[in-house]
Amino acid sequence: MSAREIRPGIFWVGVNDRTTDLFEGVWPLPHGVSYNAYLVVGEKIALIDGAKAPFAEELLRNISEIIPPEKLDYLVVNHMEPDHSGSLPQLRRAAPGATVLATQHALPMLAHFYGITGGVRAVSDGEALDLGGKVLRFFHIPFVHWPETMATYEETQKVLFPCDAFGGFHALDGVLFDDEVDVAEYEDEILRYFSNIVGMHSKPVLRAIEKLAGIEIEVIAPSHGLVWRKDPGHIVELYSRWARMEARPEVTVVFGSMYGFTARMAEAVAQGSAEEGVPVRVLDAGRIHVSYLIREAWKRKGLVLGAPTYDTGIFPPVEYFLRLLERKRLRDRVVGLFGSYGWKGGSVPKMRERVEALGWDLVGEVSFHGAPTPEDLARARELGAEVARRLRGSAPSPKGL
Ligand code: FEO
Repeated sequence: MSAREIRPGIFWVGVNDRTTDLFEGVWPLPHGVSYNAYLVVGEKIALIDGAKAPFAEELLRNISEIIPPEKLDYLVVNHMEPDHSGSLPQLRRAAPGATVLATQHALPMLAHFYGITGGVRAVSDGEALDLGGKVLRFFHIPFVHWPETMATYEETQKVLFPCDAFGGFHALDGVLFDDEVDVAEYEDEILRYFSNIVGMHSKPVLRAIEKLAGIEIEVIAPSHGLVWRKDPGHIVELYSRWARMEARPEVTVVFGSMYGFTARMAEAVAQGSAEEGVPVRVLDAGRIHVSYLIREAWKRKGLVLGAPTYDTGIFPPVEYFLRLLERKRLRDRVVGLFGSYGWKGGSVPKMRERVEALGWDLVGEVSFHGAPTPEDLARARELGAEVARRLRGSAPSPKGL
């Protein structure tokens, strides 16, 4: 995509990445991702954020559509993760006179990531920078997503550049703004980004939202995904709900199975929940990437986990999923457990320990020996029904989750 003016004197100059398979080396990108960067053109010119290193040339090409890169006065580094900062060495070569602006916490990262020590200035929280006709103000928002992160706000056009906050997976398919797409089609990929990348920092996200609430914002221009000009409140509302762990009163069943025994129990659990009138999604942890499992667990309040005993513990794909939910600090879930064993039980007690440590509401559990008997299947069905009944008392699903 080529450069595009988003407000008078403010230009998107970012890039789409459709070739990286795994974001951060972990999370699949079937629809790609964008690294949004923005030029703010006053008497002085600032570039806000950048791109991953292999895309620096394309970024510079887009900048060149608006100004010669050597005319850049400032490189604003909202966040040091290399999906945005990786282009800094090339930008510095193209604009040797530009001053890098970042928080104090970013300075050692600039030195250690790129050997950048000179031509750098730390900006304080709330500090303003008059570009002449444009005014930037910097707000520190630590841990959204790293400790050094800040948001930049352009006061004359009321545009917020919050970097990772309010971003999402999904490249920009020839469009840029929320009013140019069916936003609902993007929301699953935005939630997957939120839950995979930013979710563990939900409390800092809520603090940032509260901190920025007093600012008059007409456009939210994050550094991944859509630019929100029609309804910036919508993405703030989505992020707020997800960070508060609000979820649909529905059930996600995540199971692993080696020889089909636990899979049969998963079907029975799902049937039990569905018979109570509660929507269910069943996911095989051995076949579906954990990135999607995390998203689905974030989406629904009910979570039923099924795992055979393996090496005396939890079947590895389910254990990995549970471990990542711990790392992502998912809270406030209504949970059921089921699992098989061949000679000695292991998976269910070990899942129970983890679930209790997480403080989740454990509704019930079913262990079974070998192939499930009709009685075992009936117990699994009742487990699904019990989780569903617990959820039915929950609040109705908020729109957009
Ligand atoms: Fe998009 Fe935390 O970097």
